[in-house]
Amino acid sequence: MHKHLLSMDQLSAEDITTILDTAGSLRQVTSRPIKKLPTLRGRTVCNLFYEASTRTRISFELAAKRLSADVINFSADSKSSVAKGEGFKDTAWTLEAMGVDAIVVRHGSSGAPHQLSKWVQASVINAGDGSHEHPTQALLDLYSIREHFKDFENLKVAIVGDIISSRVARSNVKGLVTMGARVTLVGPPTLVPPEAAAWGVEVTTDLDAVLPEVDICYLLRVQKERQSEQLFPTDREYAALWGLDAKRLAKMHPESVVMHPGPMNRGVEISAEVSESPRSLILDQVANGLAVRMSLLYLMLGGREVEGSVADAEVPA
Ligand code: NCD
Repeated sequence: MHKHLLSMDQLSAEDITTILDTAGSLRQVTSRPIKKLPTLRGRTVCNLFYEASTRTRISFELAAKRLSADVINFSADSKSSVAKGEGFKDTAWTLEAMGVDAIVVRHGSSGAPHQLSKWVQASVINAGDGSHEHPTQALLDLYSIREHFKDFENLKVAIVGDIISSRVARSNVKGLVTMGARVTLVGPPTLVPPEAAAWGVEVTTDLDAVLPEVDICYLLRVQKERQSEQLFPTDREYAALWGLDAKRLAKMHPESVVMHPGPMNRGVEISAEVSESPRSLILDQVANGLAVRMSLLYLMLGGREVEGSVADAEVPA
């Protein structure tokens, strides 16, 4: 396995399959009464979060703890040394001096995890960098899709909404295209980057035309915090043209499903009714996030410097 996970570009279809298969074995562990494996005992994982996060940070924390690693959570807020002006590099060196084995980093700047990986010996996992990438989200989405549809062959996926701000869209497009799915990006022209046409996907503004064709409608959060100008008139107009409500869901074929990475703007990109419908995989995505992050930590840290191959012996078949 790779030392760092910075981008979906690093992963071949074979790598992705290994990560998903391992997650599948670990998923069984998380449904046992005693949910812990000793694999990463003595290893230390630091969650270094410069941007707000709930599910991703908690998911990584729990994943590391389920593998018996020690976990440090560092959030760059008013209580940390960042408020005193400590730079990213100094923080990296501090963690390095303390001997952490893996740093899970979320940062507002695209490329920050890549930079960090040059400064430290630890493995670096990108938990979202600016509008660049969010590889672990893409992997948990691929896991959820494979669990539901069994494979990616001939699968048609629409990714809808604020593509331009979305690291989730960039990582998912790469992962889905690598696995052989067909992707269509849908959104207002102001929210779809011009370079998207070169990503090996189709691009359209017409959601209603696409819905009857797809197996998955993947909705993105409208990320107002990343938009420096008004890119669409009002939430109501956005919902009317690109939001998924029950009426639109009825246009999709009955075996198709709805996904969203969270957090959701209910009533904008997705209606409350659709988010809670049996066709929604949203809660599966959250549950699978834990198994996929365990799988990554296991493959990236467990394989290295662990005496013998306890790792192999511990995963249930
Ligand atoms: C995503 C993120 O932070 O990029 N959320 C997440 O990781 N659960 C998507 C988003 O914020 O819209």
